[in-house]
Amino acid sequence: MEKGFILWFTGLSGSGKTTISQALEPELKAKGCKVEILDGDVVRTNLSKGLGFSQEDRDTNIRRIGFVAHLLSRNGVAAMTAAISPYRAIRDEIRAIEPNFVEVYVTAPLEVCENRDVKGLYAKARAGEIKGFTGIDDPYEAPLNPEIICYTEQESVEESVKKVLSKLEQLGYI
Ligand code: ADX
Repeated sequence: MEKGFILWFTGLSGSGKTTISQALEPELKAKGCKVEILDGDVVRTNLSKGLGFSQEDRDTNIRRIGFVAHLLSRNGVAAMTAAISPYRAIRDEIRAIEPNFVEVYVTAPLEVCENRDVKGLYAKARAGEIKGFTGIDDPYEAPLNPEIICYTEQESVEESVKKVLSKLEQLGYI
């Protein structure tokens, strides 16, 4: 059985977590990995349906994602997660239960994420139509010691993907 692992993406909305994880999927499959992506936006339509964005609900969402990713990982799957996961303590809680945890901090300046505004939510947050939006009026706690940092303002998607793949090779996962 292939060695499973969790590739945990964290970063602001619009930083590039989903894009990079989706670009990695075929690359990992080509290397023989079984792959699943647990994307925050998708998880919130099923596994975490009904949860909001209070700290408590975000923590519940992240613990659920971590729990499922852990089950996948221990069965040989490369489990990628792409949720903002703004709280360091919960990410570290998952790191503590998962022996094969690789954290990827996906970062771009807030103004860059805001200008991308893929879903139009930053504009709504600025207009006060959404309260407690991460980076605007809700906290984001950056990882202190992530295995990988993708600076998506400077790097292309391909460069970020290469960076992740070479770290996974170096760590012996692929
Ligand atoms: S997390 O904080 O619990 O990790 P998650 O990644 O699942 O968040 O969901 C974030 C997505 O929900 C954002 O990309 C955005 O599309 C949407 N969203 C809606 N309201 C908020 C909010 N208040 N803060 C952040 N994202 C929000």
